[in-house]
Amino acid sequence: MTFHLPNLDYRKDALSPIMSEETLDLHHGKHHQTYINKLNDFIKDTDMLNMPLEDIIVKSSKETTMSGIFNNASQHWNHNLFWKCMKPNGGGKIPPKLEGLIKNKFGNVEKFRQEFINAGITQFGSGWCWLSINNGELEISKTPNAESPVMNNIKPILGCDVWEHSYYLDYKNKRPEYLEKFFDKLINWEFVESNI
Ligand code: FE2
Repeated sequence: MTFHLPNLDYRKDALSPIMSEETLDLHHGKHHQTYINKLNDFIKDTDMLNMPLEDIIVKSSKETTMSGIFNNASQHWNHNLFWKCMKPNGGGKIPPKLEGLIKNKFGNVEKFRQEFINAGITQFGSGWCWLSINNGELEISKTPNAESPVMNNIKPILGCDVWEHSYYLDYKNKRPEYLEKFFDKLINWEFVESNI
């Protein structure tokens, strides 16, 4: 099968001014589309054509000769999650089930917020910060470039893109401000909880 760009669940101007229409146009319409085009091109004559995306990611992550497939497959998965993790007028109150897990692990929501934002700030260069469930416990992590916990068979429930293409038009070099706004104004907590 070939992979396709998913539609956004909101209009491209609906996250403004936290994330501008121009950023979404480029990020969703150009960057994500390019990952998909390259992935489809890489796998068209291989046995990966009929494999689920997660299996392609795990398999290609183990072979340095497959780095082109891995990078584009993983970025396709990462962006699919990222678009779903945001909504207009997002942020705010975390639903009770997820809030309970957060308090169990981090003590309170503010400590969790700081740790998640700090993971994104301290990711050197391009990459991602994540909230995952590993062995029944919440876990915050960060990864460089296209990598994600999926390559280790762990599925994140929340991800934030800290590549410059995700924030530079709106925040210039202020990655911490982008991460704070993402957390406070964009996260679709109902979606994040639905991934548990
Ligand atoms: Fe991105």
